[in-house]
Amino acid sequence: MQTNPWGTIRFTDKIALITGGASGIGRAIANRLSAEGAHVIIADNNAEMAHETVAKIEAVGGKATYIEVDLADDESVIAAARAVTEKFSALHVLVNNAAILRTGKIEDGAWLPNWEPETAIGLRGWVLITQHLLPLLKQEGAAIVNLSSEAGFLGRPGQWIYDAIKAGLVSVTKTMAYEFVEYGIRVNAVAPGWIVTEMHYGGASDPAAQKKALEELTISSCIMKRLAKPEEVAAAITFLLSDDASYITGQTIHVDGGRWGMSVG
Ligand SMILES: NC(=O)c1ccc[n+]([C@@H]2O[C@H](COP(=O)([O-])OP(=O)(O)OC[C@H]3O[C@@H](n4cnc5c(N)ncnc54)[C@H](O)[C@@H]3O)[C@@H](O)[C@H]2O)c1
Repeated sequence: MQTNPWGTIRFTDKIALITGGASGIGRAIANRLSAEGAHVIIADNNAEMAHETVAKIEAVGGKATYIEVDLADDESVIAAARAVTEKFSALHVLVNNAAILRTGKIEDGAWLPNWEPETAIGLRGWVLITQHLLPLLKQEGAAIVNLSSEAGFLGRPGQWIYDAIKAGLVSVTKTMAYEFVEYGIRVNAVAPGWIVTEMHYGGASDPAAQKKALEELTISSCIMKRLAKPEEVAAAITFLLSDDASYITGQTIHVDGGRWGMSVG
């Protein structure tokens, strides 16, 4: 097992699947779960980044597997769940995390081409993969975390699709918690504030410079006045996934530096 700088070892011999585990918050979750003893399955459509994440985990003594999936494609989701079922006899952790961010104002209608892919990847795909992994999750009991967002509690101009999906996931989380409790499965959501990930710097002309600028940015929309590192979100998520959270289900935990409004400055 790899060295664990956090000291806690809560996932020995557990199998954990993270959608979108190749990048950003998902990668931080994969690293943390792996450091705490889990075999992590990176389910992602970006093969290059996923292989890189798997290689880095293996290089420090962790266990990781890449499963290719396009959450926008039902057949791909079902095939990925089948591949996981053929390789593993139980699944103890599921993190529904992969999403995309697209913008457009309601009035100008420019959002229309963005609506279906964003919904398919970030909502439909999450429920579909959960449905198809449920037999594995039921085997030995499990914990699920769904990534909502502070955006789902704000409703921002030009981002209605993303924000509505994130609000919807709070409700889906409660439905899953009710439906799966009899199988020994807890389901919670985490609503991060503004986190420094590829979602916000990956498309920049100079990603490294943009990452640094975000890390140094002062914001007025939260008490702590700064953005978070993905590892700070992963810490809260791994708590919810662990037995330390054995009496917590159906909840949404806000990991947002004390967010109270929206601003970009
Ligand atoms: N970064 C933030 O500020 C922030 C804030 C609140 C919530 N969130 C949420 O956290 C989650 C992770 O965000 P992030 O910032 O780490 O994003 P990211 O862009 O860094 O990572 C997203 C991952 O999802 C994968 N992905 C995208 N489309 C996919 C598809 N069709 N099929 C399979 N995988 C796909 C990407 O390859 C990537 O690995 C998302 O649900 C996001 O909405 C992020």
